[in-house]
Amino acid sequence: MNPFAFWNPTALYYGAGQIEQHLLTEVKKYGSKVLLVYGGGSIKTFGLYDKIVDLLKSGGVTVLEFSGIEPNPRLSTVHKAIELCKKEGVDLLLAVGGGSVLDATKAIAAGVKYDGDVWDFYTRKERPQDALPFGTILTLAATGSEMNSGGVISNWETQEKIGSSSPHTFPKFSFCDAENTFTVSKKQTVYGIVDMFSHVLEAYFSHTTNTFLQERMMESVMQTIIENAPKVLDNPHDFAARETMMYCGTMALNGMISMGVQGDWATHAMEHEVSAIYDIPHGGGLAIIFPHWMNYVVDAGEERFYQMATRVFHIDPTGKTTKQVAQEGIQAVRHFFDSMDAPSTLGDYDIGDKDLDRMAEHAVRVGPVGNYKKLAKEDVAAILRA
Ligand code: NZQ
Ligand code: ZN
Repeated sequence: MNPFAFWNPTALYYGAGQIEQHLLTEVKKYGSKVLLVYGGGSIKTFGLYDKIVDLLKSGGVTVLEFSGIEPNPRLSTVHKAIELCKKEGVDLLLAVGGGSVLDATKAIAAGVKYDGDVWDFYTRKERPQDALPFGTILTLAATGSEMNSGGVISNWETQEKIGSSSPHTFPKFSFCDAENTFTVSKKQTVYGIVDMFSHVLEAYFSHTTNTFLQERMMESVMQTIIENAPKVLDNPHDFAARETMMYCGTMALNGMISMGVQGDWATHAMEHEVSAIYDIPHGGGLAIIFPHWMNYVVDAGEERFYQMATRVFHIDPTGKTTKQVAQEGIQAVRHFFDSMDAPSTLGDYDIGDKDLDRMAEHAVRVGPVGNYKKLAKEDVAAILRA
């Protein structure tokens, strides 16, 4: 494995009743004036908004709010929230929602402590030196944003969607009660499942050696996702299945299973280019692109594809070449996504050839993408065209 340093300071609360028991104590560690950050209002439809506001107010906390964070959160919205925080002098941000709300909150937290434009952190012009403390209450299992320091923001003026991370943008605390995900639509549930599965794949396709335990942990997460997917889709109120899926999402991208592993991440880079222009759901884009990426790079290391096929999908290798088994593994991933009715071509989002070269060019703006196989502009264009 590669030399690594691991540090994750987020206090994680899983399960029913944790919000009631611990939220107020956590919040009060950081102050008494909170900005509640949320999205389009789904949190009001199942009682979570009222529960949090009542709880905080009963504990003497002043609650301000900022709503309207979009899926694929926008820089212009983040700017407005930063202004509000600076004007009101809030002590703490509380993000309540899915990955978009959490990511926007990370940008707001870093932006409040910076005199320039927070976008500088995403273009790599500057690094955050500080951030306002923030906590999260997760309502959608997908990104892992509840326990990592990353966030992705879309700039509509420049048509760019870029991620950033910093030691300053870990949540101080995160509450993950699977009951708060019961109302997530089937479509969003599928996108979340594809996203967390993809996070594991991005780490799994690696040439780093001596990562035996990491590989086994990744395979466990993938198998658990596959086993649980039909359960959450058939019965959205199955607490156990929703909780297991939520935990898979957290573990897929909190750094635990991929210590010392150099992952690939080309598919995420390509997907962000598509979302930047077409504003499609992240998981939908990944479901389309990942199998095509696999077909394109399989020659760069068939053995790992063989390992995925046999260990994760239990494909019988008897009498088959490594290449055949590897190909069957790729088909199994496609089949898994298809079994949930995830999208399979960019045409599903009415995306034609028009912008493919522009997306490919932007994907490689700072050099080739990916590590399993380095992809140049022509490679990215070929994958997107496929
Ligand atoms: O806005 P509201 O009303 O809350 O509705 C949301 C939104 O419309 C809805 N939703 C969330 N919880 C719900 C619910 N609806 C009903 N009941 C609930 N309990 O779901 C819709 C999608 O929400 P969103 O937050 O956009 O989804 P997700 O969690 O998949 O986040 C996607 C964003 O995260 C970024 C993606 O690029 C995308 O911008 N990512 C963040 C990462 C990270 N921070 O580590 C890594 C990922 O690879 C990803 O790039
Ligand atoms: Zn993702």
